[in-house]
Amino acid sequence: MTCLLIVALTLCAVLTPSASVDSCDGCLRFASYYGDHMVLQRSPERAVLWGYGPDGGHVTVSLSGPVNQKTSPVPVLEGVWQVTMDPVDAGGPYNVTAATEGSTATLTDVLFGDVWLCGGQSNMGFETYKIFNASDELALVPNYSQVRPFMVALEKSQTELMDLIEVKLPWTVPTAGNVADFSALCWLFGHYMHDILKYPIGLVESCWSGTPVEMWSSTRALQQCGLAQSTEEKAFPSVTDSVLWNSMIHPLLNMTIKGAIWYQGESNADLNQDEYNCSFPAMIDDWRMAFHQGSGGQTAADFPFGFVQLSTYLKTSTSDAFPNIRWHQTADVGFVPNPRMPRTFMAVALDLPDEFSPYHTIHPRYKRDIAYRLSLGARAVAYNETDVHFLGPFPNQTLCSGMHVNITYDQAVSVTPSSHVFEICCSANQAPCGPKSLWVPAPITNWGPTTVQLSTSLCSPTEEAAAVRYAWRDWPCDYKACPIYSLSGILPGPPFISNCHQGNN
Ligand SMILES: *[C@@H]1O[C@H](CO)[C@@H](O)[C@H](O)[C@H]1NC(C)=O
Ligand SMILES: *[C@@H]1O[C@H](CO)[C@@H](O)[C@H](O)[C@H]1NC(C)=O
Ligand SMILES: *[C@@H]1O[C@H](CO)[C@@H](O)[C@H](O)[C@H]1NC(C)=O
Ligand SMILES: *[C@@H]1O[C@H](CO)[C@@H](O)[C@H](O)[C@H]1NC(C)=O
Ligand SMILES: *[C@@H]1O[C@H](CO)[C@@H](O)[C@H](O)[C@H]1NC(C)=O
Ligand SMILES: *[C@@H]1O[C@H](CO)[C@@H](O)[C@H](O)[C@H]1NC(C)=O
Ligand SMILES: *[C@@H]1O[C@H](CO)[C@@H](O)[C@H](O)[C@H]1NC(C)=O
Ligand SMILES: *[C@@H]1O[C@H](CO)[C@@H](O)[C@H](O)[C@H]1NC(C)=O
Repeated sequence: MTCLLIVALTLCAVLTPSASVDSCDGCLRFASYYGDHMVLQRSPERAVLWGYGPDGGHVTVSLSGPVNQKTSPVPVLEGVWQVTMDPVDAGGPYNVTAATEGSTATLTDVLFGDVWLCGGQSNMGFETYKIFNASDELALVPNYSQVRPFMVALEKSQTELMDLIEVKLPWTVPTAGNVADFSALCWLFGHYMHDILKYPIGLVESCWSGTPVEMWSSTRALQQCGLAQSTEEKAFPSVTDSVLWNSMIHPLLNMTIKGAIWYQGESNADLNQDEYNCSFPAMIDDWRMAFHQGSGGQTAADFPFGFVQLSTYLKTSTSDAFPNIRWHQTADVGFVPNPRMPRTFMAVALDLPDEFSPYHTIHPRYKRDIAYRLSLGARAVAYNETDVHFLGPFPNQTLCSGMHVNITYDQAVSVTPSSHVFEICCSANQAPCGPKSLWVPAPITNWGPTTVQLSTSLCSPTEEAAAVRYAWRDWPCDYKACPIYSLSGILPGPPFISNCHQGNN
């Protein structure tokens, strides 16, 4: 028995692919996510590079290309070295060479630009080949050779890892072939940002279908919201808290990044839905703190974070799960940035339903529209373009009387009359309204440049409108056919729910 066991163990050791090729104890090499064709973060931030090497050795890193640079030697400690480069302007190509006594490791065709992390669940993972008019986008790929994709492989871990377990797509010059299988939203975001910035963009896709925010959050972040599992709960095999944070985000902390975009929330419609207004902002805060620390202060402590407000799922659903998550995505404010969520930006997507998506209605193929809206947010929030607007009209005042409701918006509105997308809650004694109250449609009766007037005729004569809500449904409108858009016609008004202020008449 003992003998057999030993034989089995030995066999196992022989059959398991030898780790020595990759981990090569003592060899000089870069960490898994540094590679040929990569994009390193441009100035004013400094790129951070790290890797493995012989204990006791010293490593210098040099750049050769449009400008040359060489770091002072850093020691290899416990098999690991790390350097911080001087700031490098956007451009390239560069060769990056790490050298120690007797050996070198080189990355070729490295560009400096902005590095964006793309996270979330299946709508972030949704591949470019699946979107509407995919072939048009893929035909353009050769024009975007400075937009470089990289994809983290799907792996879980119960502990925080220092490096990735596996890379799905190493840094590469984009081709129609590799972009087809890359995140459409991430790629299109890079495409639109490159149109504006005209310098290299690095895209790091790290996402997984069907995953709740708890998997992407550290224990620290979950504790902020009372969601961290107890030791007893953790004893069950179903533990999923932090498993993707540990394996697919934590290893990346040492890289300098410009910002992140995110499309997730569907999986929290039935998991800790009420806490999403805490767990999502807490995850953003925690990522920001951790990337800042992991890069030795190079990644901004408030790096820009953009996200997609949930699109649509079930056409006739009256469940308020999606409306609640959409609201919670803004920390219950309705728009971003706001005091709880500074330097964030949002793409509203509830007017982009895809009834006939072959990938299920939860996966709308309109990722081009979403990426474009998100790129407007990045331009305004991450790149400080003051004349770029990215959010549609949001009310700044809601006045109710017995006869009607007057809504004033924060910007000019483009209105298409509708009888049912606005709703009011009628109340006989000014009792506060809640999600369980009876809501009735409030048709649009009139509108001005920044105002909309609703009829309260569906309240009984003894009642008054006590609250108003807009697009508070899973699937509130047809494609690009909600009642309220920006004057430009391209930015839908975000959904809202608001108590009335009593007007004069
Ligand atoms: C980078 O290295 C390759 C081959 O190793 C060489 O052909 C190329 O000229 C180098 N480029 C720069 C910018 O040094
Ligand atoms: C697809 O391309 C056609 C032809 O250019 C265009 O009419 C249509 O609007 C596009 N569809 C989407 C969803 O972009
Ligand atoms: C793509 O690049 C080609 C060749 O440089 C150019 O002719 C074409 O106009 C570009 N297309 C777009 C949409 O930029
Ligand atoms: C979060 O949402 C829940 C459920 O709607 C609500 O009870 C709670 O007050 C909200 N918390 C915050 C901080 O907005
Ligand atoms: C990467 O960042 C983590 C988290 O801040 C830190 O513990 C670790 O030492 C860093 N790794 C390297 C190689 O610098
Ligand atoms: C944008 O403005 C913020 C806040 O004022 C500043 O920290 C940041 O450096 C600016 N970014 C750019 C790209 O100008
Ligand atoms: C609401 O926004 C409008 C701009 O559309 C502005 O003129 C008005 O003063 C704002 N009202 C309040 C109460 O903030
Ligand atoms: C709503 O606006 C109309 C038209 O401007 C005005 O006559 C009416 O008094 C307003 N009602 C309330 C409740 O403010």
